[in-house]
Amino acid sequence: MSEVLSFVDANLARFRAELYDFLRIPSISAKSEHDGDTRRAAEWLSDALARAGLTSEVIDTPGHPIVLGEWRGAGPDAPTVLIYGHYDVQPPEPLDEWESPPFEPTERDGRVYARGSADDKGQLYMHVKALEAHLQAAGSLPINVVVLAEGEEEVGSVNLVPFVEANAGRLACDSVIISDSNMYAEGMPSVLFSLRGLAYFEIHVKGARSDLHSGQFGGTVANPGNALATIIASLKDADGRITIDGFYDDVLEWDEETRNQIRSLPFDAEEYRKELKVPALSGEKGWTPLEQLWIRPTCDVNGILCGYTGEGAKTVLPNKAMAKVSFRLVPGQSPEKVKTLLEAHLEKVAPPGVTVELVELHGGRPWKAKVEGKLVEAASSALEAAFGTPAVLQGEGGSIPIVVDFEEKLKASALLVGFGLPGCNLHAPNEWFALDAYEKGIGALVRLYGGLG
Ligand code: BES
Ligand code: ZN
Repeated sequence: MSEVLSFVDANLARFRAELYDFLRIPSISAKSEHDGDTRRAAEWLSDALARAGLTSEVIDTPGHPIVLGEWRGAGPDAPTVLIYGHYDVQPPEPLDEWESPPFEPTERDGRVYARGSADDKGQLYMHVKALEAHLQAAGSLPINVVVLAEGEEEVGSVNLVPFVEANAGRLACDSVIISDSNMYAEGMPSVLFSLRGLAYFEIHVKGARSDLHSGQFGGTVANPGNALATIIASLKDADGRITIDGFYDDVLEWDEETRNQIRSLPFDAEEYRKELKVPALSGEKGWTPLEQLWIRPTCDVNGILCGYTGEGAKTVLPNKAMAKVSFRLVPGQSPEKVKTLLEAHLEKVAPPGVTVELVELHGGRPWKAKVEGKLVEAASSALEAAFGTPAVLQGEGGSIPIVVDFEEKLKASALLVGFGLPGCNLHAPNEWFALDAYEKGIGALVRLYGGLG
């Protein structure tokens, strides 16, 4: 193991430079004008896997390609680990809020700023470098490895689910390791006990045959903008509880041990508030912020479209309005059931004079980890050795929909061990990744693979 760790130390500058090349490719999955870049990122990654010593291929899908790397030299009696990550990134807009260009990685204060640095290219590439260290310095790995990277995580992983189903034999493994989340705090590595799920919709409200003069018609014809506001306001009460009938029926009551674990983590709500520059925190009454984030569901408007929003005033009665509304779900809940409940709710609250249509965008099931066993133990000791502090168990508010599919279809347990830091601006301007976490994290992954052998 020591020669593998020395290899990492001796090559850190190169590992960093290579990551920056990866980050320069604007693999924005949501925008078709970047389809060529997204493919280029897949090919770049596949080449990197080959240079690390794996066999690798780029596999076409109806959407963005999948990259599949394999190394099976440990033999049929050794465990097989599937490493999953994504090479696509979120759109960088608003561009004028970036302090350095999103696709020109820039170092400031021990961080690299670039879109995808934390989510997820930086974290995915740490695995590639840890594999390379074993294969180049020791000539082998103690485990068989499959690396599966997709280019559609940020747009719902629609083509990955059928791929996993169709290739379950080839992807067969004992465990799945994913680094696409955060550490609890700087210098405080963690392993996840849960991820929230997602149910994402558009609510379309339609009124008259066309936009109308708001003086000539206002007062007689329902306004879709007002109606949509009524609908949105009906989703939560003043205590921050979701008011859809039956919404909480399946919400898991977490065990005391997990509740105590959450309470034991250092958390300063005032610091959190200040860092976010909000006048006050707001959330479901009776729960702490960490509980609100990790073990309670929520509902948010992600965007609204309606009426005249250009310069100056235009007296118009719009004939349509649309809101993008998403629910973060917790273990026990399912996107399908939430859709049914929301449909019933809309029927109940839709004001007269408009028609309301619900369109489903995408969803993902929430995940609850198995936190005992060899996998978590190996991760904990690898993280402690690399970071010098024991790893903590934590939940996460974000979603990685494919995790539950992996566990079900491959009959393997997933381990989520992330290296981003809170505040690293995922999906926002000025996304960054801490260089210290990148470097120590590669060491942690080297030890983890070693420990699983
Ligand atoms: N890496 C994130 C998930 C994440 C975010 C984990 C924050 C931990 C902390 C992932 O790439 C992501 O953004 N997922 C989407 C899923 C959606 C597009 C189905 C999300 O959570 O919005
Ligand atoms: Zn991600």
